[in-house]
Amino acid sequence: MKQRGVLVTGGAGYIGSHVAKQLGEKGEKLVVLDNLSTGFKESVLYGNFVEGDTGDMNLVGRILKDYAVESVLHFAAHTIVPESVSNPLKYYGNNTCKTRNLLQCCAEAGVKHLIFSSTAAVYGIPEGDYAEETSPTQPINPYGSSKLMSEMMLRDLSAASALTHVILRYFNVAGSDPDGKIGQSTRNATLLIKVAAEVAVHKREKLCVFGTDYPTPDGTGVRDYIHVSDLADAHIQALAYLRQGGRSLTLNCGYGHGYSVRQVIDAINKVNGAPIKVEEYPRRPGDPPQLVAAVQKIHDVLDWHPKYDDLEFIVKTSLDWEQKLLQRPASA
Ligand SMILES: NC(=O)c1ccc[n+]([C@@H]2O[C@H](COP(=O)([O-])OP(=O)(O)OC[C@H]3O[C@@H](n4cnc5c(N)ncnc54)[C@H](O)[C@@H]3O)[C@@H](O)[C@H]2O)c1
Repeated sequence: MKQRGVLVTGGAGYIGSHVAKQLGEKGEKLVVLDNLSTGFKESVLYGNFVEGDTGDMNLVGRILKDYAVESVLHFAAHTIVPESVSNPLKYYGNNTCKTRNLLQCCAEAGVKHLIFSSTAAVYGIPEGDYAEETSPTQPINPYGSSKLMSEMMLRDLSAASALTHVILRYFNVAGSDPDGKIGQSTRNATLLIKVAAEVAVHKREKLCVFGTDYPTPDGTGVRDYIHVSDLADAHIQALAYLRQGGRSLTLNCGYGHGYSVRQVIDAINKVNGAPIKVEEYPRRPGDPPQLVAAVQKIHDVLDWHPKYDDLEFIVKTSLDWEQKLLQRPASA
């Protein structure tokens, strides 16, 4: 039997490369499509790499046919929230319009399954302590809106065709491959653990903490940090679920509990063996005090058993990768 192909868009990026690694280790027939706008070719360890754009329908159509693609994992997107506020059309263009083109190619080629990288940003500022998959979706920035619109298109296409999908709404993804082969190389990163690790290796001068008077135990914001390799495994399980005939659904991806900014800083200082420089600033508009996933549904539906639910381990893998990047200034 001809092996069924898997297309990974954005597979040279942080999360896509970790998922492609796990798919490759399982012997999947992989093709990675990435325009390298924020990704790195050297992060693609398995499969065939095609440099190109998800909006290029001729190219995507050809890939789907040549590799007999049965399943698509769609990571390609722009991801910087403040940039989406200053340049919204860039985000609607790349994240929404190009997803629409990709979906059309999938429909024309008869792709069976699609797994979509969505985000907790679709919830905006959730009421209550946990965001449920059924909580209202009211994004507060164009990045979240661009992703929510993609979710809507995907649901509508599945309703109108044989395509089945899993939408995974990631919370705060952090850490790097425990084997040390790949990691988060993102330039000008804005996410807390990556930035803190850069301060620890003196790539940045200081860590800015925004808001110390939230109604949380220590006054700083609380987030649900999920290790990237556990998140990658959720994709493997979602693909297995769809291949077994599972129906389309949307799942939160987090551990279901959060850590404050101060707890993250304490973990970094402990693993680093020395304190990092921190400066405190007022709250930023639009930052919720707490954003933590309700995770009952993902555990009910997928055979997913996270292995790295440990803040110090997450921070350690992040710091180890940052040390590695110091030896490779070209990709840093
Ligand atoms: N990092 C997080 O904490 C987080 C949280 C929630 C959701 N997500 C989602 O996960 C996905 C991956 O994010 P990431 O953190 O790995 O970001 P990333 O920037 O490292 O990866 C995105 C990849 O997509 C590629 N790309 C972008 N537009 C493309 C296009 N039009 N055609 C082809 N390739 C294109 C980039 O070159 C890059 O390699 C995104 O869809 C993002 O919205 C990330």
